[in-house]
Amino acid sequence: MGKKVTVVGAGFYGSTTAQRLAEYDVFDTVVITDIVEGKPAGLALDLNQSRAIEGFETKVVGVTTGPNGEGYEAIEGSDVVVITAGLARKPGMSRMDLLETNAKIVRQVAENVAKYAPSAVVIVVSNPLDEMTALAQIATQFPKNRVLGQAGMLDTARFSNFVAEALNVPVASVRTLTLGSHGDTMVPVPSRSTVNGKPLRDAMPAEQIEELVVKTRNGGAEVVALLKTGSAYYAPSAAAARMAKAVAEDSGDVMPVCAWVDGEYGISGVYLGVEAEIGAEGVRRVVETDLDADERASLLAAAEAVRAKQGDVSSM
Ligand code: LAC
Repeated sequence: MGKKVTVVGAGFYGSTTAQRLAEYDVFDTVVITDIVEGKPAGLALDLNQSRAIEGFETKVVGVTTGPNGEGYEAIEGSDVVVITAGLARKPGMSRMDLLETNAKIVRQVAENVAKYAPSAVVIVVSNPLDEMTALAQIATQFPKNRVLGQAGMLDTARFSNFVAEALNVPVASVRTLTLGSHGDTMVPVPSRSTVNGKPLRDAMPAEQIEELVVKTRNGGAEVVALLKTGSAYYAPSAAAARMAKAVAEDSGDVMPVCAWVDGEYGISGVYLGVEAEIGAEGVRRVVETDLDADERASLLAAAEAVRAKQGDVSSM
């Protein structure tokens, strides 16, 4: 049977995600929903009109949803649901400033997803990411492997881009890794980062790596400050769409994602940025990688920071 993916939220993040998913041409149907009247239908119409040029057969369906779950029938049978709903940051805001507002939105969306697409894999991208992922699992009551969050793919892509630019090498020759939270306790992992297969630490001095680490951690805020309205969406949507594709294709690709950690790295009972093997069931397994002592200590600190915040969301 053909695959179906739903993107909840037709802002820039949602609409670019829907576009990428449609252009992959691996889904039968891409559903895009929003609470704004007409917008998702308009975007769907526009995307479908690009099919003859871009050469994809995927059909895009746009649906406006109501406060009591009206319209959600359209997501029935979705293999994957990407939740982008919620507010984006404004200049000067941290992702955590969105916690209470987005918790209400994400909880309501997640409850409707559970009702209408009970076997879907849910990929959360709303901020604050680690907390909204935990909340979506609580609200759906889905098995923890079927709820994951997008952050590591994005933060890693930012880190790789900055390294490639600094060294003036093709971005394809750069491999980096970030773990931890999608926030202040993001943990870039230089020990696992390479340029042309050689350690990043041999390619640039430690101070320069630290500079790029800081730039990566602030990568989203820098975009927000420039855009002034809304936050980044090209790189974020690329990351979310790749994760949804890995689920649809049951690819087994190992990606940095926000996943439920249960014993790996000696950490348990928290959603945290780690590498995981992604397949049709969501997270097949968390892949534990070798870390330096200070990277490991940073990951443990990140786990405790997000654990404290994730505890708060269960009552939101
Ligand atoms: C960012 C937002 C989407 O990092 O979290 O750009």
